[in-house]
Amino acid sequence: MNLLLGITGSVAAFKALRLGRILRDRGHQLRVILTRGGAQFVTPLSVSSLLGAETFTDQDFWAPVPRVLHIELARWADLFILAPATFHTLSKWALGLADDLLTSTLAAYQGPVVFAPAMHTEMWTSPVLQQHLLRIEGLGGVRVGPTEGPLASGDHGIGRMAEPEEIAEVVEQLLALHHTLRGKKLLIVYGRTEEDLDPVRVITNRSSGKMGAALVRWARRMGAEVSSIVGSTSIQPPQTPTLIRVRTTDEMLEAVQSHFPQCDALIMVAAVADYRPTERHIYKRKKEKEPHLTLSLETTPDILQSLLPSKKHQLIVGFALETDMDLKAAEQKRKTKGMDLMVLNTPQTLGVETVTGSLLDEQGSTPFEGWTKDHLARQILAWLANRWRRG
Ligand code: CTP
Repeated sequence: MNLLLGITGSVAAFKALRLGRILRDRGHQLRVILTRGGAQFVTPLSVSSLLGAETFTDQDFWAPVPRVLHIELARWADLFILAPATFHTLSKWALGLADDLLTSTLAAYQGPVVFAPAMHTEMWTSPVLQQHLLRIEGLGGVRVGPTEGPLASGDHGIGRMAEPEEIAEVVEQLLALHHTLRGKKLLIVYGRTEEDLDPVRVITNRSSGKMGAALVRWARRMGAEVSSIVGSTSIQPPQTPTLIRVRTTDEMLEAVQSHFPQCDALIMVAAVADYRPTERHIYKRKKEKEPHLTLSLETTPDILQSLLPSKKHQLIVGFALETDMDLKAAEQKRKTKGMDLMVLNTPQTLGVETVTGSLLDEQGSTPFEGWTKDHLARQILAWLANRWRRG
């Protein structure tokens, strides 16, 4: 595969050379971009000699030759690796600034990017950078590290670039998934719905939307065309070409019904409010008037079940959150709701980073334990890719 390695200005630039060697030894084609800062730590000559790779700097970018280098490199690369990635380069990437060869290539490049931040702890924890990271991860950037350890300032803390072996591992994982969903249209529905009691109060649940966001990011990295329908979330939803924000179950139902016919697969990870008040008050209910309140609730429409009559070629992935892991009842739910794959998990999953549960499909059930939401997202998407490959 064609790997483009961007080296920016940090003392960890030395470690990038080891990363380059590992990737080259695994048989990949390598080209390197060295920023002005990067060239303060390693020279273009040492990089090209050690890695046997063409190495470019801003001098090549500004050279009066017919070659449009940033476009050529952006089209050539199957994967872009930024290691080390400094505060400055990450901020420029997030803001869409393109004033040198590296950032102009990033601006033109459309594939996946793996980046390994390296900086001092104060810079890593700065709210500005954390905001930029949200944007970068929303754009599909895959972060590796940083780790904790001794820093160039003599301090000990978080900010060290991840080890080259770990970065190479993530690169291989991404390459294995590369393009496996190209040409497929995915509709990913996530977040929680809210049902109004009155203009101020709502009935809802504790879903954060993190699982849906992980699915969106990985589906895009795997080359799928993703549309998303998003209820309320505790996180910033990653951008997709079509992104519809909804609040109530009725709004979600309408949006899903209108987008379902055009998709190849629907992933329904939304935490739909199962009940809504039978009467909604136009005015805010007052405590003085109603010191004891008894609510009358009715069930909301079942979105998945409403799709059954229009289901044709589409695959459907659904989730079920149960307090007990009764696999027989879960399999029944999978079939009744027309799901090709169902992820069964427990309420402990809400808002946390790892998931334990079972994957159920027509072949049976497979338990899993302690998977990160990113890993579960990859497994679900790989399941879809396999189904389509088998035809
Ligand atoms: N779902 C849906 N419409 C609803 C409720 C749930 O489409 N009104 C979807 C969820 O997004 C999920 C799947 O159905 O993918 C299973 O959700 P779950 O809450 O477990 O199903 P329910 O049928 O509501 O079952 P229960 O009565 O056990 O809560």
